[in-house]
Amino acid sequence: MEIKPINSYNKMSKLAAKIVAGQIINKPKIVLGFATGSTPLGMYRELVELYKKSRLDFSKVTTFNLDEYLGLSPEHPQSYHYYMYENFFNHVNIEEKNIHIPKGDTKNPVQECRNYEREIEKIGGIDLQVLGIGVNGHVGFNEPNINLEARTHVIQLSNETIRANSRFFKNLDEVPRKAITMGMATIMKSKKIILMAWGVEKKKPILKVISGHIATDVPASLLQVHNDVILVVDKKIYSSSTVTDPLSYPDKI
Ligand code: PGA
Repeated sequence: MEIKPINSYNKMSKLAAKIVAGQIINKPKIVLGFATGSTPLGMYRELVELYKKSRLDFSKVTTFNLDEYLGLSPEHPQSYHYYMYENFFNHVNIEEKNIHIPKGDTKNPVQECRNYEREIEKIGGIDLQVLGIGVNGHVGFNEPNINLEARTHVIQLSNETIRANSRFFKNLDEVPRKAITMGMATIMKSKKIILMAWGVEKKKPILKVISGHIATDVPASLLQVHNDVILVVDKKIYSSSTVTDPLSYPDKI
């Protein structure tokens, strides 16, 4: 894992946007995996700037979002559909037909998951996946558990996630209890991954991600097995002294 500690949110956003833009320039028909939440907001803003000022071309780009709340229509202001159009898609030259987000208001969530996974496979997988991380170590909505699902699936959100995301809703009761999310295998099959983490509340999960241990109760820790992950991280939560040397072995085996 390549680790890039950054000392301002703007710099983190610019760096993530630069990596994404570089990949688009290298491969105009790229397949991008996108995340929502507060962390990548600045990156989307920067990408819109790059489109407007430097003519970064999204016309051949295909996107797949990581997840969506079940029960929210695309028009709901807290749906990830709404977030993506509001913050990004409405402002760049991406083709509507190339945008993929799981349908939160589907009548058949299981079929929707199958279709979504099939669409990703059909196009040959995701070239570059952007990820945030939850306070509980989730990626997408892959919540900590003994078992993790490999493919796109319906998930019951954890109390921690419901609490953390209630900041976007009027109250706790309004937060959907279920979501559709790409699975860990869907994510891990991406050719390249950028994991972004900003703010002290992400210190605990990030230290677990880079500690050298893999545990299903920190789904993001699986990313250590991937061979092309860039961690763009708040300098405040990452300092080499706090990190266990991943190559050190326990005293007693
Ligand atoms: P955040 O969410 O960017 O709003 O902190 C990240 C996540 O829950 O994956």
